[in-house]
Amino acid sequence: MSKIRWGLLSTANINRRLIPAIRESAKGELVAVASRSQASAQAYADKWDIPQAFGSYEVMLASDAVDAVYIGLPNHLHAEWSIKAMRHGKHVLCEKPFALTLAEVDEMTAVSQQTGCYLAEAFMYRHHPQTKIVGELVQNGRLGRVTLVRGVFNFAFNTRENIRLVPEMGGGCLWDVGVYPLSLAQFVMGGPPEQVTGFQWIGESDVDEVFSGQMLYANGGMAQISSSFCTPWLTHAEILGTEGRLILNRPFVALDDGQRKLIFYPKEGDPEEIVVSEKELYLGEVEDLHDAVLDGRSQYLTFAETRNHVKTVLALYESAKTGQVITL
Ligand SMILES: NC(=O)c1ccc[n+]([C@@H]2O[C@H](COP(=O)([O-])OP(=O)(O)OC[C@H]3O[C@@H](n4cnc5c(N)ncnc54)[C@H](OP(=O)(O)O)[C@@H]3O)[C@@H](O)[C@H]2O)c1
Repeated sequence: MSKIRWGLLSTANINRRLIPAIRESAKGELVAVASRSQASAQAYADKWDIPQAFGSYEVMLASDAVDAVYIGLPNHLHAEWSIKAMRHGKHVLCEKPFALTLAEVDEMTAVSQQTGCYLAEAFMYRHHPQTKIVGELVQNGRLGRVTLVRGVFNFAFNTRENIRLVPEMGGGCLWDVGVYPLSLAQFVMGGPPEQVTGFQWIGESDVDEVFSGQMLYANGGMAQISSSFCTPWLTHAEILGTEGRLILNRPFVALDDGQRKLIFYPKEGDPEEIVVSEKELYLGEVEDLHDAVLDGRSQYLTFAETRNHVKTVLALYESAKTGQVITL
């Protein structure tokens, strides 16, 4: 096998980001899309110039024409279809949040290990050069001891018809966008928090439409994260350390307007803008699958990290529900 043949499992809106990434990659090609109806699959294939259209997810999984699938389903279907795909021998890139329970994460992990299929959570920003620079700056001590990570991801809906507003589908802004600053904090701190507290505002939809969380880590570091479905679009993160602070104005999103800035403010002296070599935001996660499957490299995002993302979200929700500080 010299190239990975990709199939899109659903006609999800987010596919529009993966399609150019797969096409730009050196070792991947987009060969198929599956939808719950043949008409929808065919219309999508025509629109995006995809060679094959399957009128059911199962039929695409059973096909020899596909090596790997991208799962952009509603959150409550991630585990079910990742497992089905791997049982058919397909490698899987599964959207965040990976799953909604730890039992699901453990089953997905076990099936990946049994089948030898690649399986990873599609946290695209983790593969981006900017995030890797942040990791290096923290690791090499440039910020000193990191005392606080702050991150936010907010947006507002144009319409109330959305999978994110449906409780049974794993809706809620923490599951949807709060997981970005949560995962950044875990990346910077090198592991999950020991204790968390969360507050939420439940909207008419019956899901959290505003969520704010605080996390305390073993080394004494802390994080504050927030997410919202009802305030204007904003992503931002800052990492505060004893030797300086780092500001990321676009930590989690594609560079559509050329305004990404990574600025380091040292304890003393002038601020320094750190140059980030741009790369298509969704390309890294696609290449990671290629490198693991074709060249036998270890996947970049580990199951342990992914499990801790889910564990921390669940603890934050428990705290918001009970009003208690939760120890992980
Ligand atoms: N990494 C990122 O940047 C990013 C950005 C946005 C979203 N996401 C993630 O991607 C996933 C999809 O988000 P999206 O906004 O793209 O969703 P979406 O546009 O609503 O698409 C979801 C797709 O799932 C399929 N589906 C299967 N069962 C369904 C059901 N019962 N109800 C509704 N749809 C069903 C549908 O495809 P068919 O009709 O073709 O079967 C639908 O097109 C979510 O997990 C989200 O967290 C990630």
